[in-house]
Amino acid sequence: MTEVRPHPLSGDELERLSELLQHWTGMTFGEKRGYYLERRLRERMRRSGSADPCAYFTRLLADAAERQALINAVTINETYFYREDHQLAALSKDILPEIASRRRPGDRIRIWSLPCSTGEEGYSIALWLLDNWPMVDAYHVEIVGSDIDTDALAAAREGRYGQRALARLPDAARQAYFEPEHNHEFRIIEDLRQSVTFTQINLIDSRSVGTAGKFDVIFCRNLLIYFDEPARTAAAANLFDALDPGGYLCLGHSESMARIDPRFTFVRLDDAIVYRRD
Ligand SMILES: C[S@@+](CC[C@H](N)C(=O)[O-])C[C@H]1O[C@@H](n2cnc3c(N)ncnc32)[C@H](O)[C@@H]1O
Repeated sequence: MTEVRPHPLSGDELERLSELLQHWTGMTFGEKRGYYLERRLRERMRRSGSADPCAYFTRLLADAAERQALINAVTINETYFYREDHQLAALSKDILPEIASRRRPGDRIRIWSLPCSTGEEGYSIALWLLDNWPMVDAYHVEIVGSDIDTDALAAAREGRYGQRALARLPDAARQAYFEPEHNHEFRIIEDLRQSVTFTQINLIDSRSVGTAGKFDVIFCRNLLIYFDEPARTAAAANLFDALDPGGYLCLGHSESMARIDPRFTFVRLDDAIVYRRD
């Protein structure tokens, strides 16, 4: 088969693509990321055998699989174990004991890692609770990881990680909860893989978010920074609706709900600033 060489994209075409992606995902691709976007787009066009940008855009509207493949190609999946672990400390020291004080032993406590990317955040929550929250076995703790990117979710379910992803993890945790594999990779043990459920959710789509049910704690870190204003507002409303009253929201260190949705209560804990749905 002869290799397809996609035609160069005009500024207008790139802008059109950027608008489509923004509409589907909430992520903005300003001028600074034009080159990044163009490279990913041309790669997708080449792989899907499309030379003409206009024909490819029409295809994107009709072909859900190609649309998903393009979304997977443009997402930024940067993440690692024990990222911003002061929030994990707040989870085990303040947030869960407070929630547990309103529940009975055996009750369900639901924690959501959204976006979870390749799984490091959801598994970090599981590992941290095993090692740092003595009451973990007294409750039915359910951890869900969600992302828009289906390739990232497949990698999360596999649970294989390289040195870079594990660099912040204490050696004892690595030895206890990972099995070494070839290529210097480590696979998180089966029991832990079973402890996190991964599902595809689009945070800016209220119907998609609604399918996940209600949560006591949501970690939504390092996604709002990629969103434009309307997407942030939609995301905030969806996060609010997904929290049970009394539930907590943890954002990334450069993100804030202050100017997005006044319904969240700002809570300053010893280890972290979080938000609560009162
Ligand atoms: C930088 S990662 C953050 C991962 C993790 N929360 C962390 O802080 O380490 C951002 C993730 O957001 C996901 N994403 C982008 N748009 C999304 C959307 N509309 N809904 C859900 N996830 C989305 C991307 O696929 C990517 O995996």
